[in-house]
Amino acid sequence: MSIENDLYLTKDYDSKYCLQVFKPLNVAFVRGSGSYLYDTEGKKYLDMIGGIAVNSVGHAHPKLVKAVVEQSRKLIHCSNYYYIPSRSELAYKLCKSSFADKAFFCNSGAEANEAAIKLARGYFYHKGIEKYEIITAKMSFHGRTMGTIAATGQAKFSKPFEPVTPGFIHVEFNDIDALINAITDKTAAVMLELIQGESGVNPVSPDYIRAVRKICNEKDILLIDDEIQTGVGRTGKMYCYEHYGILPDIMTLAKGLAGGVPIGAMLCTDEVASGLQPGDHGSTFGGNPLATTAANAVLDIIREEQLVANADDVGDYLMEKLQALKKRFPVIHQVRGRGLLIGIEFEPLISASMMQAVLLEKGFLVSAIGNSTIRLAPPLILTKPEASSFTTALEKILKAQEKNK
Ligand SMILES: Cc1ncc(COP(=O)(O)O)c(C=O)c1O
Repeated sequence: MSIENDLYLTKDYDSKYCLQVFKPLNVAFVRGSGSYLYDTEGKKYLDMIGGIAVNSVGHAHPKLVKAVVEQSRKLIHCSNYYYIPSRSELAYKLCKSSFADKAFFCNSGAEANEAAIKLARGYFYHKGIEKYEIITAKMSFHGRTMGTIAATGQAKFSKPFEPVTPGFIHVEFNDIDALINAITDKTAAVMLELIQGESGVNPVSPDYIRAVRKICNEKDILLIDDEIQTGVGRTGKMYCYEHYGILPDIMTLAKGLAGGVPIGAMLCTDEVASGLQPGDHGSTFGGNPLATTAANAVLDIIREEQLVANADDVGDYLMEKLQALKKRFPVIHQVRGRGLLIGIEFEPLISASMMQAVLLEKGFLVSAIGNSTIRLAPPLILTKPEASSFTTALEKILKAQEKNK
């Protein structure tokens, strides 16, 4: 039995057999190519959200498809009991492209952050120092596991599941005094997103992150940089920290790293790597031949097609066009972000979910975050004409909305 091209049956089965934790839009995609997705009826959509910052090299990129197909024919999985050439190669590539000396692989962003949290605590434990508190930002998002909901600075994600893991303190984002006041002799790490993606695309202030780095150095506190959404080229640099002239001690990646094949990575310096000793941590699937081969292919494509520069260039172009729309339409409150991670916040008159639904109808995919912001995180291969088709559609919608007022 196949229900592949049947939206009605898909919805029916979903409501009967899938745990109802998502509220899907009224569409199912069956195919993708480049920056576009196609639904069960064959309708084409420009994917301006890229599977939530995941489809970094677009849909069905021939090199990624070839790598995944060829590796599947050879070996999908064998476990970490053995050396895995593609895992070693990926660790090498990530370390050479970043501040890091060592990499650990897992299967998702939350798992990468779990590894980072354990590493930070383990680092002080193995040195015989009692430091375990981790300071994170209010409105941050670090994942859905029991550890990462404790790290996440939004009560709505943890309240129903209390008691959560202790030892996490949440402070106002971009407020250095709040951070200084929260530091104790038990503080092991500060964990931050450099652009808070899930709560509205809110960038860190450059002065703040530099001051955070300085304080961490002075007080022997580790800086964990959650680049699950911002990493691997998305913001117009390979890693977002490069914009600020600082280096983290630990960095987490996931989303775009393997272009849609599930993977997470936790990277750290040699010094900090002592925090996880043999047997302290692991993952059955993490770093398996299929996922790491896909990630190697994605990194090659990003390099060969200069997609970091493209994200910077097309991101600037898109930002300029959106800022022009903001000038023209007062209902746009703010446009924020870097590279190809952009949030458009509307005045309360326009709800983000309504805007998302209208754009869907016109053939454009975005995400709605909170009540008033839509987020764009398209594939890094996005072209200027594609970006322009989005802003033209948005302009038409806003014009129509103006007329109907
Ligand atoms: C910054 C950040 N950290 C962690 C996560 C969790 O990643 P995952 O959903 O792969 O567990 C996300 C997901 O949106 C994220 O944006």
